Amino acid sequence: MAIIYPDVSRTFSEYLLLPNLTTKDCFPTNVNLTVPVVKYSKGTKTPMKLNIPIVSAIMQSVSNDTLAIALAKCGGLSFIYGSQPIENQAEMVKKVKKHKSGFVVSDSNVSVDHTLKDVVEIKERTGHSTIAVTENGTANGKLLGIVTGRDYRLTRDSLDKKVADFMTPFSKLIVGQLGITLSEANDLIWEYKLNSLPIIDKDQNLHYLVFRKDYDDHKQNPDQLMDPQKRLMVGAGINTRDYSERVPSLIDAEVDILCVDSSDGYTEYQRDTIEYIKTNFPGVKVGGGNVVDREGFLYLVESGADFVKVGIGGGSICITREQKGIGRGQASAVIEVAKARDEYCEKTGVYIPICSDGGIVHDYHIVLALAMGADFVMMGRYFARFDESPNKKVKRGNSYVKEYWGEGSNRARNWQRYDLGENSALKFEEGVDSYVPYAGKLKDNLDVTLSKIRSTMSSCGAKSIKQLQETARITLVSSTSLIEGGAHDVILKENEY
Ligand code: IMP
Repeated sequence: MAIIYPDVSRTFSEYLLLPNLTTKDCFPTNVNLTVPVVKYSKGTKTPMKLNIPIVSAIMQSVSNDTLAIALAKCGGLSFIYGSQPIENQAEMVKKVKKHKSGFVVSDSNVSVDHTLKDVVEIKERTGHSTIAVTENGTANGKLLGIVTGRDYRLTRDSLDKKVADFMTPFSKLIVGQLGITLSEANDLIWEYKLNSLPIIDKDQNLHYLVFRKDYDDHKQNPDQLMDPQKRLMVGAGINTRDYSERVPSLIDAEVDILCVDSSDGYTEYQRDTIEYIKTNFPGVKVGGGNVVDREGFLYLVESGADFVKVGIGGGSICITREQKGIGRGQASAVIEVAKARDEYCEKTGVYIPICSDGGIVHDYHIVLALAMGADFVMMGRYFARFDESPNKKVKRGNSYVKEYWGEGSNRARNWQRYDLGENSALKFEEGVDSYVPYAGKLKDNLDVTLSKIRSTMSSCGAKSIKQLQETARITLVSSTSLIEGGAHDVILKENEY
C-alpha cells in the first residue's frame, strides 16, 4: 500500500511568527542578512555567501543580465535563465561580469540615417532620453554624436528629419577615454556641466555612458555582491540534457555558480548532471533541485549538490499540482528538508544550504521561510514586476502591468525543465502566461522588503538568520484569525491622499 503521510501539506500563509524578546542591540539596522549559498564543513567559512537572502528565478521573464546587475548591486544573486541558446546565455553572464558600476552600456542607439520618429520610438520603449549615434547604430560602434531631448522639438520638427541633421555631433562632445576611473569621469561631468559622458576607445568606438545621476552608485549600494576581483556575481541555470556543452561555455564566461533547473530534481538525470560537473570541473559550485522531502534532498546531496532548491507546485504561474497531482505545500516542504539538512550536518559535519523556491506572496513569507530553515529564497513573480526584468510593460485599463510567464508554459518552450527522459515536445503545460502589476525600480521595492525583513527579525529577537532559525517561534493560524490579521470592521478611506 502507498505511504500516506499523516501531516497536512501546509503553506506559508497558514503560519505566523511570535515575537521574542527584542534586546536593545537588536534594532533593524543591526540585523545581519548574510547567508551561505554553498556547502561547507562546520567550523569553517562558507566559500560563497549572499549579502541578502534572496535570489531571482531561473526564468525567461525574470533573470536576464539587466536584472542580474540590479540585484547583485543590492546584495542578491540572479540565475540567468537557461532556456535560451548557450551562446546567448553565456553572453548575458559576460555582460554581468563586465559591468562596471557607473559605466553603462548604451541600450538606446541609432545611426545618422535614422529619423526623429525612430528616436521617439526608442525613447518610449526604453524610457531613456540619451541616445547614442554610432556609425552602425550599435552600442559599440564608432561614436558620431549624441541625441538628447534638447536636440529636437516635437512640436516643430518633422518626424522624418534625419538624425544627422539634429544630433549633437562628435566634434561638440566632451568624451572620456576608455580606462578612465569613475571618479575622473565624474570630475568631467561636473566641470563641463554634462548629463552624460560617453567613454570611447582610441578608435572612437563607444564603450559606455557615464550618467550624472549614477554619481553615487557605489555609495548607494554598500551591500553589492562581488567576487574577489570586485566584479558583480552571477549564477546560471542549466538543464539535464545539453550540460556537457552549456557548462563549459558558462565557465568560460566566468559564471560564479550554476543551478540545475528542473521541476522535479529527484531523478537520475539530475545526478548525472551534477556528477559530470563535479568530475570535470571540481571547483565549480552547482545547486540541485527541486525536491520537497528528505529522500530527494539526500539523493541530491549524495550526488554532490552544493545547495538544494526546495519547492514543487507553489510558484505563482505554476499549474503542476493541477496537471500532475505532484507537489507539496511550500512550508511543509521547507520544514522537512531543513530537518533532514540539520540531521545530515549533525552526522557528517557538512552544512548544505537550502533555497525555498516559489510561492512567496507577502514579504513576511520570506522571514517565515528563513525561520523554517531555508537559507535563502528564490522569487519569480516578485522580480517580474520591476523595470529591470526582461518582459514587456503594457497598459491595461488605467494601470501598467508586466508580462510574466512560466517556464512550463507553451510560450517558454522549456521542455528540458519538465523532461523525464523521453523526447522533446511539451505534451501539456505546467505553467501559465500572465500579467503582474508593474512596480517600478528593483532597488526601491527591495529596500522596502528588506526593511520589513529586518524589522520582523528584530521583533523575533534575531540579529542574524542563523539566530532566527534557532530561536524563532512559529504558530499555525486558523482561517478566522487570518481575517483578524488585515484591516477589519472599519470603513477604509480610499484615495484620500
Ligand atoms: P513565484 O516566485 O511564486 O512566481 O515562483 C517562481 C518559481 O516557480 C520558479 O523559481 C520556478 O521554480 C517555478 N516555475 C517557473 N515556471 C514554472 C512553470 O511554468 N510551472 C511550474 N513552476 C514554475
